[in-house]
Amino acid sequence: MSKFTVLNHPLIQHKLTLIRNKDTGTQEFREIVNEIAELMVYEITRDLPLKDVKVTTPMGETVQKELAGKKLAVIPILRAGLGMVDGVLQLIPAAKVGHIGMYRDEKTLQPHEYFVKLPSDIDQRELFIVDPMLATGGSANMAIDALKKRGAQHIRLVVLVAAPEGVHAVQTNHPDIDIYAAALDEKINENGYIFPGLGDAGDRLFGTK
Ligand code: URA
Repeated sequence: MSKFTVLNHPLIQHKLTLIRNKDTGTQEFREIVNEIAELMVYEITRDLPLKDVKVTTPMGETVQKELAGKKLAVIPILRAGLGMVDGVLQLIPAAKVGHIGMYRDEKTLQPHEYFVKLPSDIDQRELFIVDPMLATGGSANMAIDALKKRGAQHIRLVVLVAAPEGVHAVQTNHPDIDIYAAALDEKINENGYIFPGLGDAGDRLFGTK
């Protein structure tokens, strides 16, 4: 079974409360989403492998650590996932960025893939799928399918707010994928929104309605 981890660092909790507030405007919302994404990636990358390297300081030679060349990529699910990309790149500027576009069929409510553009070597990369809201898990499951179909080996899912239903759906379909969230909320309401959640993440990020 995949791991589900809530990253409840005090700074993450504080910032998440700020963006849950309905009176937080677009600019502040966008900035804080990126800040939370950055803090989450800081926590998630604790297990990145290191290797020994020689370095000469002004005082002399020493052996120290550097990242062992693990290649990373961040894959936002369009459109709300875009809001987390800059935060990730702030910490990992050399990461490649792939995109997965999904729309929800109005009748069936099922997600459909309409755009996939990925780094050519995704099979060799550690991939972070980012999407602020894990509600039913439909989009996340499709995004993971899309990446696996193209050869991805190491995928993690990073969301801000998760609903129990979404966590269960991803863990059931993809028991090999670890999920990280800033919060686990109560439920999905009758309109498909996470409660208490933060509303429509895409609309709040981009100032649309
Ligand atoms: N997508 C959102 O943007 N918000 C929710 O609450 C659920 C899905």
